Amino acid sequence: MTQEDGKRACGYRAAELIEDGMQVGIGTGSTVYFFIEKLIERVKSGLNITAAFSSIRSKNQAMEGGIPHIENDLFTKLDVTVDGADEIDAQFNMIKGGGGALLREKILATSSTKMIIIVDESKEVAKLGGAKLPIEICQFAYTATIDKIQNLGFNGEIRVDQDRFYQTDGGNFIFDLNLQSPIDNVQALHNQLITISGVVETGLFFNLDVKLIVGKKDGTLK
Ligand code: 5RP
Repeated sequence: MTQEDGKRACGYRAAELIEDGMQVGIGTGSTVYFFIEKLIERVKSGLNITAAFSSIRSKNQAMEGGIPHIENDLFTKLDVTVDGADEIDAQFNMIKGGGGALLREKILATSSTKMIIIVDESKEVAKLGGAKLPIEICQFAYTATIDKIQNLGFNGEIRVDQDRFYQTDGGNFIFDLNLQSPIDNVQALHNQLITISGVVETGLFFNLDVKLIVGKKDGTLK
């Protein structure tokens, strides 16, 4: 059994928690893939929900399976958002954005009454900072934005995909920070970065009402 079995186990469990009539935010990633897979099954068996998606990838998978999309993404409040994470600590602070969808993920997360986070056990950490911290930045004068980030003492690199700069679904770039040490104060770091003109969003997620579901390699839940 592998990490993928853990991802499947928590994804499937989260899908069982979705209730009739809910407006559901759906995140992005290899764990969310399994959530959508199971949710499609439930919708085919009569579950009545609508959904908004943090990525075209997730939306395509869900809509091909018959999950209805909230028209034009014009939601104000969502009942729940289900998403993965790159790192999560015991206070449910998270680094997200490894899959390149952090801005839309944060819009879903902060519009939701609650979140269900689905991760395999490798994502649980005592302190955030081992994973790269993705920062979504505007294309316009991205050099100036990166210069400002670097002037604060951070190192990193602009994300590349097949020899070109990776572009988010919203057309932004991502600058991945290599943190030199664990993050002491998640909110302070977010505040420091988000005030830079040209930074659209950071991959630091905090102050959310989170239910955490952790899948183990043996295919069971923690
Ligand atoms: C995408 C994300 C993902 O939730 C995160 O990268 C985890 O992905 P995976 O489930 O594939 O490990 O934040 O932007």
